[in-house]
Order: sequence, then structure tokens, then C-alpha cells
Amino acid sequence: MDFIKQFHSGWAYLAILMGIIFLLSTLVYAVSKKDTDNTIRRIGLVTTIVFHVQLLVGIVYYVMRFLAMDGAGNIMKSNVLRFSFVEHPLMMIVAITFLTIANAKLKRSKMVPYSVVIFGFLGMIALISRIPWETWMG
Ligand code: HEM
Repeated sequence: MDFIKQFHSGWAYLAILMGIIFLLSTLVYAVSKKDTDNTIRRIGLVTTIVFHVQLLVGIVYYVMRFLAMDGAGNIMKSNVLRFSFVEHPLMMIVAITFLTIANAKLKRSKMVPYSVVIFGFLGMIALISRIPWETWMG
């Protein structure tokens, strides 16, 4: 359990970093009307892989925490448990879905469209809104 927790906690830095790099670089390409090239495709691919690894590890961590807990019936009654077991996972899945759609659009484009930047932006807003900042950083 400890290894999975630490991995999920550490990998989150990489996910946020890649999300920011993806967002800024697609914005630069879209504004300067640059053609989609291998550099931006690679950034998209690496970002998607990093996010999907976090998704898989998150699911494993979730199942382990869930099985180890007493009183799963209290999840919706407690703010803390609802955050950990419902809000955080659901919003992260939304974020990963947006980033994956952004990358799928990017792969198919000849010139990076603004829709890629918008999906990336929405994904990052979802991600940033439901990270347990206090327990993570504190
Ligand atoms: C890009 C996606 C994700 C990011 C960036 C992320 C990030 C984080 C961070 C930073 C923490 C706090 C770790 C700590 O306190 O040391 C955490 C906790 C957790 N994550 Fe994620 N996560 C993501 C996706 C997911 C998914 C998809 C699930 C489950 C399906 C999940 C389940 C959990 C659980 C159960 C916790 C423990 C919460 C708590 O102790 O309050 N995560 N996550």
C-alpha cells in the first residue's frame, strides 16, 4: 500500500508538469498557426501516457484503500471520505478524458486547432480543482 501511495503521490508532480507543458506548447502552436510536427505529437503522447499511468495506479490505490477501510457506508456522509473516494477520482477521470480527447484531436490535426488548447485547459482546471492539496503538500 505504501509504495502505491508514494508512487501516486510522486507521479502527480509529473502529471501536473506534463499537463502544463502540453497546455503551453499547444497554445504557442495554435497562436502561431504552426503545423503539427513530431515535437508536439511527442509532447501529446508522453502527456497521455503519464496521465494513463496515474489513472491505473489511482484505480489500484482506490481499491486497496477501499478494501482496507471500515464503514464504506459512511463515504457520502463524511466530507473527507467523499472527497477521497468520490470527488477526487471522478474529477481526475474527467481530467484524463479531456486530456485524452485533446491528444486525439492533436494527432489528427495538420495545424494545432484551438479546440486542443480548450480541452487541455478544461482538463487541467478539473485536475487542479480536486487534488487533495493540503494532505499532499502538508
Ligand atoms: C491525473 C490524475 C490524478 C492525479 C494528478 C492524482 C493526484 C493525487 C494526489 C496528489 C493525491 C494525494 C497523495 C498524498 O496525499 O500523498 C491523490 C490521492 C488519491 N488518489 Fe489520486 N490522482 C489522480 C487520479 C486518481 C484516480 C483516477 C483515482 C481513482 C480511481 C485516484 C485515487 C486516489 C485516492 C483514493 C487517493 C487518496 C486520497 C486521500 O487520501 O485523501 N486518483 N491523488
